[in-house]
Amino acid sequence: MAVLEREIIAPVPGAYNLENYDALRHTFSWEDAAKELSFTKTGKLNAAYETIDRHVDEGYGNKVALHYVNGDERRLLTFQAVKEKTDHYARVLKSHGVKKGDRVFVFLPKTPECYISILAIIKIGAIAGPLFEAFMEDAVKDRINDCKGTVLITDNEMVKRVPQKDIPSLHTILDVGEIENTTFDDKNDCDLVEWVDLDDGMLIHYTSGSTGKPKGVLHAHRVVTHHHASGKWVLDVKDEDVYWCTSHPGWVTGSVYGLFAPWLNRATIVIQGGRFKAENWYQLIHELQVTIWYSAPTAFRMLLSQGEVIKNFDLSSLRHVLSVGEPLNPEVIYWAWKQLGVRIHDTWWMTETGGHLIVNLPAETIKPGSMGRPFPGITVGILDEDGQELPRGSVGQLAVRTPWPGLMKEIWGSKDRFNAYFKYDGWYVSGDLAYQDEDDYVFFQSRDDDMINSAGERIGPFEVESKLIEHPAVAEAGVIGKPDPIRGEVVKAFITLRPGFSESKELLEEIRIFVRNNLAAHSAPREIEVLDELPKTVISGKILRRQLKELEINRTKSS
Ligand code: WT7
Repeated sequence: MAVLEREIIAPVPGAYNLENYDALRHTFSWEDAAKELSFTKTGKLNAAYETIDRHVDEGYGNKVALHYVNGDERRLLTFQAVKEKTDHYARVLKSHGVKKGDRVFVFLPKTPECYISILAIIKIGAIAGPLFEAFMEDAVKDRINDCKGTVLITDNEMVKRVPQKDIPSLHTILDVGEIENTTFDDKNDCDLVEWVDLDDGMLIHYTSGSTGKPKGVLHAHRVVTHHHASGKWVLDVKDEDVYWCTSHPGWVTGSVYGLFAPWLNRATIVIQGGRFKAENWYQLIHELQVTIWYSAPTAFRMLLSQGEVIKNFDLSSLRHVLSVGEPLNPEVIYWAWKQLGVRIHDTWWMTETGGHLIVNLPAETIKPGSMGRPFPGITVGILDEDGQELPRGSVGQLAVRTPWPGLMKEIWGSKDRFNAYFKYDGWYVSGDLAYQDEDDYVFFQSRDDDMINSAGERIGPFEVESKLIEHPAVAEAGVIGKPDPIRGEVVKAFITLRPGFSESKELLEEIRIFVRNNLAAHSAPREIEVLDELPKTVISGKILRRQLKELEINRTKSS
């Protein structure tokens, strides 16, 4: 395998927009990249206008903007229709008093209405906070409370998971059905779009760190330059493409590369509702003739493990496949190469970075096992403990030279948590460990902290531990990511029990369900193990997650 992993996969001739990216690497500038957006010509900026309305104004109103697929349901909307629906939602929000800078949350399944709600909020200058559809009450509550959201768009099912009485700032809950049915006598469209400054807030995504509650990562309207440029060069969108990103907009991949980047490049996108099922996914690619597909290693590994099913579908429409969120195994790249005749292009970025930073550009050579090379205009550094750059081949902290257009504007309400990313002058420190080879390719090693990455979803151990100790039987908890062949990692909890409780299968299951029902299914520990005591630091008594992880990994090795 060692030889195979170093093998270099050459690009497929004729498959991509650009055949030679060397020129781009030498000539690229963010200023030039922004020239295709309208604000650089008109001086008027609004991310929602750039994403949808601009195409209508440029004569592409009749182009299909989206295909929606959910079970047997099929819908199709043109750019004109998306614009009109967005305007309607914007008008409803305005009629409820939403103003520039307000935080408006969206809690909806993956439907066209979810995408349209996000755009409508941004169109009127408010800040959109998309929430993942599987969140339970506490996860919803913590996020909206943190930035004092005032309005929430949801539906009559999901509203049951919104504890409104515990969210004092939230004065209005709008049901999508009611929004759809609202009528206006006087449509005053001319002032719907709020023109904003580059640094005005646009989007807030909550993400986990290894300590504390989730952080509200705030992006400003200027981020669209990054979305647009990476959509063009990395996603390689052409007018005739059908583009499918499998992530929900509650995660940053689902908003940035599910909504903004493809639509800024006028792509026809696919929105697919419902759960993962290999047959349905292959069927969707086949039926809609998907040409560009962006997904995650866990999904590819699940498909790979289904074996022969793939043979029942014609997937020859696919010309460009991308991956993000967790390490992409070389085996998966070889599987796709053999089964689909396409390469999987890994990409690396974070909620905080606003867009791709390390990528495999379409027509460049892939080294399986590597995440690719820095995007044009981006400089990567591998730093030691003092913030000094290490020589090629050494493992260190993966950092990026500041600034770039997509870099977050702030962590909501916390300068300290924001500043922690910039501890070395001129660098953004990612929290990942990696090395870079002589050809600039970057190889991910691990996280530099206790963050858990399960199926590409970022889970903070603190949030899970806090929930666990709310259960009456749990005295203390330490939560780690346990290596897993399909999901990368799964959540594992080590706990001690309170006096009077004794370990039983039923109790552990009850504790697991408790986390699941309050936080989210993906945060609930797949395994809970009871210990007599948890390892702690001598001085501060902090639980040593690293020691728990070592214990787990050594066991896996010896079994
Ligand atoms: C963390 C960021 C915004 C992208 C989706 C996840 C891990 C991301 C890769 C990759 C190995 C990756 C890193 C990073 N990660 N991409 N290609 N290979 N690891 O965004 O939820 O903000 O998580 O995901 O550890 O720090 P996120």
